[in-house]
Amino acid sequence: MLWIDGAAAPPGVTLDRGLEFGDGLFETIAVHDGRGRLLRRHLARLATGCARLGIPAPDPAALAAELEAAARLQGSGVLKLIVTRGAGGHGYAPDAGAASRRWLAALPPRPRATSAATAGVAARVLATRLAEQPLLAGLKHLNRLEQVLARRELAATAADEGLLQDGHGRLVCGTMTNVFAVLDRRLVTPALERAGVAGVMRAALLDAWRGVGTEVEVRDVDMRELAAATELFLTNALIGAWPVADLDGRALAPGPYVRAAQAWADGW
Ligand SMILES: Cc1ncc(COP(=O)(O)O)c(C=O)c1O
Repeated sequence: MLWIDGAAAPPGVTLDRGLEFGDGLFETIAVHDGRGRLLRRHLARLATGCARLGIPAPDPAALAAELEAAARLQGSGVLKLIVTRGAGGHGYAPDAGAASRRWLAALPPRPRATSAATAGVAARVLATRLAEQPLLAGLKHLNRLEQVLARRELAATAADEGLLQDGHGRLVCGTMTNVFAVLDRRLVTPALERAGVAGVMRAALLDAWRGVGTEVEVRDVDMRELAAATELFLTNALIGAWPVADLDGRALAPGPYVRAAQAWADGW
């Protein structure tokens, strides 16, 4: 028997390892003009995540067709895809034969002030630190309590996004974004081998810059280096790229790199 909020669960509703343990992955896909933006990259990251966690991956062609149909139906908004290891197993130990399960939600577009992309946003360095776990680093897995706590911390400030560091004072990412900075005239983004989500927008931008011969340093970034950043911007699949106009009270101007990123992202 299963009860939800005191009432017997409807037939067919069971526990799921995604709910029990965060044993799964998700993708948040921007939909414009009936098309999922960066859809191939979302599908590739999901497949990589399934392989790394040993979750049976949904059939790629069927999943792509499902997402394309949902995007056409939706027109514009956000598609949230969740793939879990499904039900069963003995506690944490998964059932080797269990099939994965997937949920797809069509959500309305997220309202954003247009000034976020044009004038930029305010960012704060948060006190919440991210744990280092190379086995999970880069994946968009369902264990997001760190981000939930970080968003609670951010909500007590007037800033739009919070920057997060690991236990060694290295910049990892924003609460919902990847970070690029211009340091000593070089474009830099933190390496994500120990913590963080390897964003599809980050990956697409890295490829775009490499395609035009611009070197981007992917490396450990000490948080203190940001004091000398001449440009700072945030990326994700839904926002594209936002310049940071204020970092802990220090004014920064949107620069040429974020404008290039926005021009690319608008075309994807
Ligand atoms: C913690 C975190 N880092 C990075 C990103 C950016 O990932 P993507 O470009 O795939 O949206 C997200 C997106 O939600 C995120 O939640």
